[in-house]
Amino acid sequence: MSGVLVVYYNGDGNSEKIAHDISTKLNGVIDEIRDVKVPKGTFGYMKNLFDAYFENTESIEYELDPAKYTSIVIVSPVVAGKIPASVRQYLLDNIGKMENYGFIINSNYTIKKKSFKRYRDLMPESIAEFATKNTDIDFEFYYKSLEDFADRIRIVVEKEDDSE
Ligand SMILES: Cc1cc2nc3c(=O)[nH]c(=O)nc-3n(C[C@H](O)[C@H](O)[C@H](O)COP(=O)(O)O)c2cc1C
Repeated sequence: MSGVLVVYYNGDGNSEKIAHDISTKLNGVIDEIRDVKVPKGTFGYMKNLFDAYFENTESIEYELDPAKYTSIVIVSPVVAGKIPASVRQYLLDNIGKMENYGFIINSNYTIKKKSFKRYRDLMPESIAEFATKNTDIDFEFYYKSLEDFADRIRIVVEKEDDSE
């Protein structure tokens, strides 16, 4: 077990961009959660909205086993004020084997406490959390907050990987 895995779920590119930014800071490897059955277009949009709202899960695929990494960063958009069904599915499948994890969430509007709490409920032992509006991405304070987030992950990874 070593290093950092950054896992993202992507719609329009914001989560992917954040995943690459944090991965660069932490020298991580990246994996994407992909829907198996969600169609493109309006129907897919509506399905994502509906499934997030009703807290459904989804058939997904991804490549890497989070159990092999010292730390995992989940990057996700907020959908209907909630967690996308695919991210929910990923966490239900993997939270038991994830150690030293944190999450970064992004949305159109300032993220409400209620939405934040939903992520925390699924990742109750997170060691780092960061919420950003997508319009703030690339501004100086975005990079500053990302660096603070990275520090919290880095300190654990350096300690654990050094002790092996
Ligand atoms: C189906 C759907 C529902 C959304 N619901 C919300 C929401 O409830 N609140 C919000 O602030 N943004 C909402 N958004 C906006 C996304 O969270 C935002 O655009 C995010 O940056 C998208 O990330 P992505 O490019 O990785 O998909 C929604 C977007 C989609 C497609």
